[in-house]
Amino acid sequence: MKTRLMIPAMILALASCQKPAEMKTSSAMKQEVFGKMPDGREVKIFTLTNSNGLTARVTEYGAILVSMETPDKSGKTADITHGYDTLEGWLTNTSYLGATVGRFGNRIKDGKFTLEGKEYTLATNNDPGGIPCHLHGGLKGFDKVLWSGKPVGDNGVEFTYVSKDGEEGYPGNLTVKTTYTLNDDNELKWETSATTDAPTIVNIVHHSYWNLSGDPTTSINDHELTLRAPHFLPTDIGLIPTGEIAPVAGTPMDFTKPKIIGERVEADFEALKFGGGYDHCWVLEKGEGVRLAARLKDPETGRVMEISTDQPAIQFYGGNFLDGSFAGKGGVKYAKRSALCLETEGFPDAPNKAAFPSCVLRPGETYKHVMIHKFSAE
Ligand code: GLA
Repeated sequence: MKTRLMIPAMILALASCQKPAEMKTSSAMKQEVFGKMPDGREVKIFTLTNSNGLTARVTEYGAILVSMETPDKSGKTADITHGYDTLEGWLTNTSYLGATVGRFGNRIKDGKFTLEGKEYTLATNNDPGGIPCHLHGGLKGFDKVLWSGKPVGDNGVEFTYVSKDGEEGYPGNLTVKTTYTLNDDNELKWETSATTDAPTIVNIVHHSYWNLSGDPTTSINDHELTLRAPHFLPTDIGLIPTGEIAPVAGTPMDFTKPKIIGERVEADFEALKFGGGYDHCWVLEKGEGVRLAARLKDPETGRVMEISTDQPAIQFYGGNFLDGSFAGKGGVKYAKRSALCLETEGFPDAPNKAAFPSCVLRPGETYKHVMIHKFSAE
């Protein structure tokens, strides 16, 4: 048992809106070959470092964040993400570790939607509760394709991918750009934009698995989470939102004040039963521009990660489906709840819910999504 330091009445820096800081960067980028695709194409990996000892590695395969090393409160640096040591692991993985997920991240009921009077059928590649649905872009989503990467700006890498009309059943040729930047304010910025030549649906999300302890054999149940979200989206047993936007107040879904994740994860509450734990979309406080959405802290190492975004919602997935069935970095078999995902996003199943914010992208428009991870220790 780990001894955990409980910090009462955490004073959160959640009050003020956050704007992305000036990108002051000390450029120290390394570019290497990570491996080869099964068809022989070369896959590059880029290493971004900053002046405070943070290191992010990103690869052209899946526009994946391969690793993120940050110091704890004693200055000890560790990788705080789940993943693999080599490209081969990612080529076969089905858990979207560190990936850029699309064209539509999260779930679409029955894998069907209608756009401008035409019905589209997507792969049903997931079946929570035994009910098939479309998940994270389908059988070969953006996490499983080779993007084209190049250094940009002071300390960034831009990945480009063109998703062809009809790919995975989606309409329209979609040109996607995803950029990772690491600055000296200890911010890892993931930014995605997309344009299309025909109406389509877009919800591209970043899907890193975090364990801020730096020890992937421990549980994230000990982490303390704050979500700047007064509502969540209840789902049916297939994890498809019912359409209701429910207040979190008085429920185990309330993370508006810092809460230790494990305290209520087994509560007798329908949403937690359906999700097998936390696996839901929270509706963020309304606001303009990029603003603070979540704060995660490991009380033991003192590591803190704050997430800011311009998106309306965030999926908090507590790693309930991890089951030790595959071995990741250092041969560690990732156990249930050994990491969590915080995925800023549009609403799941928005294409089938007229009352949800639209995820439709039309020619002439640009889809934009900013997600900033800010790391510190206290
Ligand atoms: C998401 C979903 C989960 C699960 C994981 C991938 O974040 O919300 O239900 O499918 O991806 O395993």
